[in-house]
Amino acid sequence: MSEKRKKPVLLSGIQPTGELMIGNYIGALRNWVALQDQYDSLFVLVDLHALTVRQNPPDLLRRCREFLCLYLACGVDPDRNTIFVQSHVPGHSQLLWILNCLTPMGELKRMTQFKEKSCSHRTNINMGLFDYPVLMAADILLYGTGLVPVGDDQKQHLELARNLAERFNARFGDIFTVPEPYIPVTGARIMSLQDPTSKMSKSDNNHLNYIALLDSPDLIRQKLRRAVTDAGNRIRYDAARPGISNLLNLFSVITDTPVDLVEQAYDGKGYGEFKNDLTEVLAGFLGPIQGRYAEFMAEPPYIEKILREGAAAARARSEMMLEKIHDAMGLIPFIRGKNPG
Ligand code: AMP
Ligand code: TRP
Repeated sequence: MSEKRKKPVLLSGIQPTGELMIGNYIGALRNWVALQDQYDSLFVLVDLHALTVRQNPPDLLRRCREFLCLYLACGVDPDRNTIFVQSHVPGHSQLLWILNCLTPMGELKRMTQFKEKSCSHRTNINMGLFDYPVLMAADILLYGTGLVPVGDDQKQHLELARNLAERFNARFGDIFTVPEPYIPVTGARIMSLQDPTSKMSKSDNNHLNYIALLDSPDLIRQKLRRAVTDAGNRIRYDAARPGISNLLNLFSVITDTPVDLVEQAYDGKGYGEFKNDLTEVLAGFLGPIQGRYAEFMAEPPYIEKILREGAAAARARSEMMLEKIHDAMGLIPFIRGKNPG
């Protein structure tokens, strides 16, 4: 067994919807990169999850490629990790079915994200949207995952994955690892620029609400200039002033400086100066990512090679796990070997 396989397994995914933005970087991608050495890591472009909302095929295809290149540009290393596309590994959908048969509908009806998305997509409340958290559990449990780095909003989905693992193990034997969430202490919830009481979202219709990883310095400046701040002009973190607190949080995470030191540096200065400096900070941070992104986008054969190798590795691992699952449940084992004659 290789050294790599002995490390605990980490798995995470982002669905190709909207535009990858700074909240995704801070809540998820940055932690993928920070943890990739200590874990046997799998990073998945969860394209089947994206089908739960209506997609235009050419746009989806383009976005899938862009997302993969952004993962790489942010520092996810294909030589140290398995990077693959969910739809390339049939085991995810197969395990989904099995887990579906162990999931009471009531548990899915309670899911906050389902309730929210049922409101925002009233004309398309489909089975996939309802089943979304079970597919996420399948992604995780299929590889014996121990750690799942995600933002705060995914806590409830992860709890379902844990419950399903425990329920399956209690009935059929010790097959699944019960996964732990890894939720960053700071930056687990970056808020919207125009409405700092709600989460920054990459599929927000109002682009002014988020800083996309591919935004130009000019666009960042415009968005920050229009970002809602609160009455008064002091640069202070205060739960009652969510606008300025969110911007302080962003500044602190990207410059890796504790919030109180940022507050000290801006003592007596105004919002205008702070926003200008935050523009510089974000543009300076995103510039190199955008440069690497452009290089990866110009190398389709390299991306294809990563995906081919990633899918082959993930398929092999998932097939081994599915055999164990089928065996434990009393399904006839798949017979390997050549057909006679
Ligand atoms: P989503 O944008 O919902 O597809 O989420 C992709 C990943 O980014 C998940 O791990 C989320 O928890 C994380 N994430 C999404 N929005 C935010 C946010 N505003 N702040 C922090 N993390 C986020
Ligand atoms: N539901 C997650 C999100 O919206 C994406 C996701 C799908 C995921 N499968 C996963 C995250 C497995 C972690 C592990 O962000």
